[in-house]
Amino acid sequence: MINLSVTELYHKLPLRNIALNFSEEISLTVDLAPFSIAAGCMGAVAVIRDDGEMQELRDALESARGTIAYLERELAKKQETSWSAGRMRSQSREEELLSRLKPRLGFERFIGMSPNVLEALHIAAKAAQVDSTVLLLGESGTGKELVAEGIHAAGPRAGRPMIRVNCAAIPENLLESEFFGYEPGAFTGAVRSKPGRVELADRGTIFLDEIGEMEPGMQSKLLRVLQEQSFERVGGVTTIRVDVRVIAATNRKLEQLVQQKKFREDLYYRLNVLPIALPPLRERTEDIPLLVNAFLKNFSTKLGKRLAGIRKAAMDALVGYRWPGNVRELQNIIERIVVLSEGEYIEVEDIPYAIRHPASPVSSDLLPALDEPKDIFPSDIREETDFSQPTFLIDNNGKLIPSVKLFGDDCFVYYCWWD
Ligand SMILES: Nc1ncnc2c1ncn2[C@@H]1O[C@H](COP(=O)(O)OP(=O)(O)OP(=O)(O)O)[C@@H](O)[C@H]1O
Ligand SMILES: [Mg+2]
Repeated sequence: MINLSVTELYHKLPLRNIALNFSEEISLTVDLAPFSIAAGCMGAVAVIRDDGEMQELRDALESARGTIAYLERELAKKQETSWSAGRMRSQSREEELLSRLKPRLGFERFIGMSPNVLEALHIAAKAAQVDSTVLLLGESGTGKELVAEGIHAAGPRAGRPMIRVNCAAIPENLLESEFFGYEPGAFTGAVRSKPGRVELADRGTIFLDEIGEMEPGMQSKLLRVLQEQSFERVGGVTTIRVDVRVIAATNRKLEQLVQQKKFREDLYYRLNVLPIALPPLRERTEDIPLLVNAFLKNFSTKLGKRLAGIRKAAMDALVGYRWPGNVRELQNIIERIVVLSEGEYIEVEDIPYAIRHPASPVSSDLLPALDEPKDIFPSDIREETDFSQPTFLIDNNGKLIPSVKLFGDDCFVYYCWWD
């Protein structure tokens, strides 16, 4: 019990932070709340805090904060080194073992260790040894052209050219002459003969990119080259024989185009001898750190930047993004980050905002449940306690509810009565 004669209490006004200094060591702070049960029965609740203990607690907290800051710095150093320039050069044991599974010849530039990538590269390495037509499937930027180059480089045709034809980029009316060449007088302006790309690829490889965009007239002419390895130049009569290996690529679903009668079924089967599917980057997120490190190294060398590494939080942001433009998009973003970076390490703030915060609909699954219990700390209760409403301390029988537990160990609740 404490005995206080405070006139405000008779007017039922709460009082806060009354300092009671008993000695140099003992100093208490009191909050007082008046209450009345019946007209003649009054009392007050006093919440008393020992400031000396509070100071000790504050000191302990301060020292704990220092320890936490030290540990955080040490942890950050460890995390830095896990994605540092040193690591860019040296592989972990696991990566070294995995890299042995990756076909070496021809595919050195293709970065990736995920099982679906290794599977694709193994088929590609086998395909390199034969002349069968390869159909590379995958979203834009997944590395179809890189794999086509690997197949050519790893095979017996490596010493001969690999000729590229982008079926979507060449206007329809020019594609035939580009493809097969022409003779003088074939069309206005054709003054001398010119070999086409199929001829230039003789004994080498022809890479038909975006084959799904080829118009039907050209599709039947291509089918003939595939079946007979022969053709005539535009405006020519002589049949030219070639020995070309065909690698085609598309990011379209060819079966759907066949169903819609936009792509010849016979050509589809002719191309689909050795299909190789390249997975989108979001299905092989374990490859993202490898790609990021390789691109960081390339661009920092190319752009003359002295980069020591990338922070884990920055790497996590890159790994968490969905990369709709796949490796091409990642490569472009890393170049931009390296150009703009000013520090020794790539920080999470260096990652473009749109990648750190991709716009996506908020799923209700991700929202916290409404009845999720809240952590309430004693200090919060004290803050929320309305001392002008003292009846909350009285139970149905007119007895005071013990409130000490609400306030924790660092303060005590007393109550006093007076007439
Ligand atoms: N696994 C990879 N490792 C390293 N670089 C890659 C990888 N995959 C793609 N790239 C790079 O990304 C860019 C796009 O790759 P590529 O042109 O091969 O994609 P694509 O599948 O042919 O795309 P599109 O369908 O748009 O033509 C290139 O600069 C390529 O070097
Ligand atoms: Mg391509």
